[in-house]
Amino acid sequence: MQIYPDIHPALRTKSAPVAPYQIGSLQSLFSEMHQTCIEADGVGLAAPQVGINLRFFIMCPAPNERYPDAPEIPWEVVINPRIIRQSIEMQSAFEGCLSIAGFRGSIARPLEIEVAYTNASHQQISGKLNGFLARVFLHEYDHLDGVLYPDRLAANDKLLTLEEWKNKKEEPAPANLSDPRHLD
Ligand code: NI
Repeated sequence: MQIYPDIHPALRTKSAPVAPYQIGSLQSLFSEMHQTCIEADGVGLAAPQVGINLRFFIMCPAPNERYPDAPEIPWEVVINPRIIRQSIEMQSAFEGCLSIAGFRGSIARPLEIEVAYTNASHQQISGKLNGFLARVFLHEYDHLDGVLYPDRLAANDKLLTLEEWKNKKEEPAPANLSDPRHLD
């Protein structure tokens, strides 16, 4: 199945809630999107990315070529998600998007979130997510509102090409000047 690039209007449209009666007829689409997400080395895929403006996304984090440090969790269909609470504490990390091939950007997101959604078996799920999983959830949630991660770049920041990003990763981490061991 095709993943649309960010110039596709579906990526900039606010998606409509999924009605409970629709969930049954979406099951084969859920599986197809899961397969597409894995084949593309993604950790999540939102319905607008395949041209469907309905409020659901797939989360399928597992270590892959694009995200070698991703945690592995069973894949999940997240329908009509709600963000109940977000931590004030933020964390910055590089993100990419299957609809914006070849780039990465450092995006600040809440470190912890409390969420609620319906899964593919019509169950109401609620719970807390933190770190990488919170980031994936928030990134995919943004897709449902027509928001793309570059919209959240800090004003003085820019997208990096994959090559620039790889070079940056290999730079040594800056010394922590507040650490007294560095003073002598
Ligand atoms: Ni994305």
